[in-house]
Amino acid sequence: MSIHARLHSQALGALALLLGGLWTAALWADVPKAAGIASQNKQATAAGFAVLEQGGNAFDAAVAVSAALGVVEPESSGLGGGGFFLLHRASDGKTVFIDAREAAPLAATRDMYLDAAGNPDRSRSVNGGLAAGIPGLPAGMVLVAERYGKLPLKQSLAPAIRLAREGFVWSAKNSAMIGFRAEQLSKSPAAAKLFLRSGKPPAVGDTLRNPDIARVLERLAEQGHQGFYAGVTAKTLVKGVRAAGGIWTEADLSRYQAVEREPLRFEYRGQQILTAPPPSSGGVALVELFQILSGYPLADFDRVARKHVEIEAMRRVYRDRAIYLGDPDFVQMPLDMLLSPYYAAGLRASIHTGKATPSKALPGISATQEGNDTSHFSIIDADGNVAAVTQSVNLPFGAAIVAPGTGFVLNNEMDDFSVKPGVPNAFGLIGEDANAIEPGKRPLSSMTPTILLGDERVAAIGSPGGSRIITMVFQGLSMILDGSSAADAVAAPRIHHQYQPDSVSSEPGALSAEEIAALTARGFTLTPSERPWGNLQIVVWDKRDGSVQAASDPRWKEVSGGESRDRGMIYR
Ligand code: DON
Repeated sequence: MSIHARLHSQALGALALLLGGLWTAALWADVPKAAGIASQNKQATAAGFAVLEQGGNAFDAAVAVSAALGVVEPESSGLGGGGFFLLHRASDGKTVFIDAREAAPLAATRDMYLDAAGNPDRSRSVNGGLAAGIPGLPAGMVLVAERYGKLPLKQSLAPAIRLAREGFVWSAKNSAMIGFRAEQLSKSPAAAKLFLRSGKPPAVGDTLRNPDIARVLERLAEQGHQGFYAGVTAKTLVKGVRAAGGIWTEADLSRYQAVEREPLRFEYRGQQILTAPPPSSGGVALVELFQILSGYPLADFDRVARKHVEIEAMRRVYRDRAIYLGDPDFVQMPLDMLLSPYYAAGLRASIHTGKATPSKALPGISATQEGNDTSHFSIIDADGNVAAVTQSVNLPFGAAIVAPGTGFVLNNEMDDFSVKPGVPNAFGLIGEDANAIEPGKRPLSSMTPTILLGDERVAAIGSPGGSRIITMVFQGLSMILDGSSAADAVAAPRIHHQYQPDSVSSEPGALSAEEIAALTARGFTLTPSERPWGNLQIVVWDKRDGSVQAASDPRWKEVSGGESRDRGMIYR
């Protein structure tokens, strides 16, 4: 090639590179090409899109989905419960965590669930009026709408009100969950009237109308916070709870406020992650997990070696959860220590990479079971606003009571307190003083709504699942960080360890027979589960091409009022 030709070709090459660069830059989108919502129920997902279509942002849509879930999945969450909203606003980059967790009533006492012999009476911390904390979700929805939404609260609550008035279809998930609680629900006349037909659960496919909750939502829509925490709704709730053995007063409701808190923020492999601060334990645990594991060359590990260090990290962070964490307005927590990379390095140094550490060998406390409900949804709108929201009534149908005239079950979130040091709660979780009951205090939660703000991908993630929420979010987010699609991350089988009981649970397909044998040889106790768990909801916005993915956990295929593709949807 002549010198001329070579120069010419180099110039062309440079031009092509430059143009290629410009072309790529042009492809990198400032905003998503679509909005995405992933929730557990297609009627709730549709409620969110209805509000986006009317000009609402992701936060208005979060209010719509939250309220709709309370109507169509009363077993999981609703006006009688609480939740956490993690929001990221695109216009100024502000991120905020809204703590709408239930609070203990003022008449609550540390030993209120202990019997004469000093043993916990579980039936009182999970059933009836005494089990219910003061609801937070209505206050959270009002705060989100007023401070971060674009539309009036009334407009965002309209789809839920319509579902309640016109009726919603009773799904196989509603039906499966009521199976656990029908007997208890039958003891509350208002709950039985709402959810049972001659003492039996409704048939799948039946239409349920709920004019009582429609009226409560309308008062909330008209009057905002006061429409729930004062006046008719407050009086009706106090009367109903006290009639069911509870200790609420109107002062409990009038003093309740949702609280704005700073999200926990950390960097993992150069990516910004935002997650839930106390009174959730989830974010602290997630930071610790990622920081412990960041010291290992995970990409070079085989599957057994990787699982080994993951399980050991899980064991250590659930121990910290049990010892240190509680409501930040009541307890001093060594968060600087727990969140420090040096502390993580110390924990890492205590891990033997060839042999399991028995939980009882770790300094700490000694001490199980499962439950099932709560609801997570994730939203990204076409402006790049992000919402990750987890909300709950704790066990299916909460405390299984409805105050007459209100149309919603009350939570049994009081069971998330440590009712006695070292005694496991419904999720097998143990705790100490930091999570002891005090008047007005919020029980420690595992709900872990989380947002990834990466250079290339933005994502929102979360799940129900009690104590397993944290390890599910960790495993799902690890896959997203490794480049997986949202659909693959929600579908992958998962493992779990929570310090006590000292055993590794695994979903079907999570560990091969060889892996089970190898981990057993390393000293782990394995208890493979025959049933899958969790309900992960992920949205991802890929900034490189503007594409959006929304994926709802396929484990609930066909039972959640829609195939996963109807629950996790994008809209252009
Ligand atoms: O806040 C918590 O950690 C629990 N109340 C969540 C309960 C839950 O996820 C039940 N679902 N499976």
